[in-house]
Amino acid sequence: MFQRFTALALVAGLALPIALPQAALANEAAIGARKAQFQLFAFNLGVLGGMAQGRVEYDADMAQTAADHLYHLTRHYNPALWPEGSDNANAADTRALPAIWDDLEAFAERYAALQSGAEAMQAAAGTDLASLQGALGGVGGACAACHDNFRAPAP
Ligand code: HEC
Repeated sequence: MFQRFTALALVAGLALPIALPQAALANEAAIGARKAQFQLFAFNLGVLGGMAQGRVEYDADMAQTAADHLYHLTRHYNPALWPEGSDNANAADTRALPAIWDDLEAFAERYAALQSGAEAMQAAAGTDLASLQGALGGVGGACAACHDNFRAPAP
């Protein structure tokens, strides 16, 4: 009986201090994963932007591959990457503004706009340079529209 009580007390006593670091670790993992996703967005958009701006010669296969990647990467919308408490007021190493959690619907709408832009880019990128250029604003604009409201400026 005493042993069981001791075990329970230990569990109860330990549970609270352990729960807090676990939440922090979960946030850390989610923050790392979403940043990695954004880096992949930027990498593929960079390929398309380089061609659109004439810094890299247009190559239909390369453009199509980057647009396909961007399209599939943007299908991954996972709210688990945005746990409550993982904003820059409560967590380290993140530029996600608390405004995201004040208006999750608006945040999701901005993401949906990116998904549409990436879909249009996928249909255009492999056609010719002019088509790629025509679709670039839709994608880049969707990135910027979300950053303007929901991402803190670089430190
Ligand atoms: C729905 C909102 C939203 C959209 C759309 C969006 N971003 Fe972001 N982006 C964010 C937020 C919020 C952060 C900050 C994430 C963090 O620090 O936890 C971020 C961070 C980033 C980062 C920095 C990642 C890092 O390693 O710190 C890059 C690069 C980036 N975004 C590129 C893009 C590109 C390119 C696009 C469009 C193809 C895009 N984002 C579209 C909201 C968005």
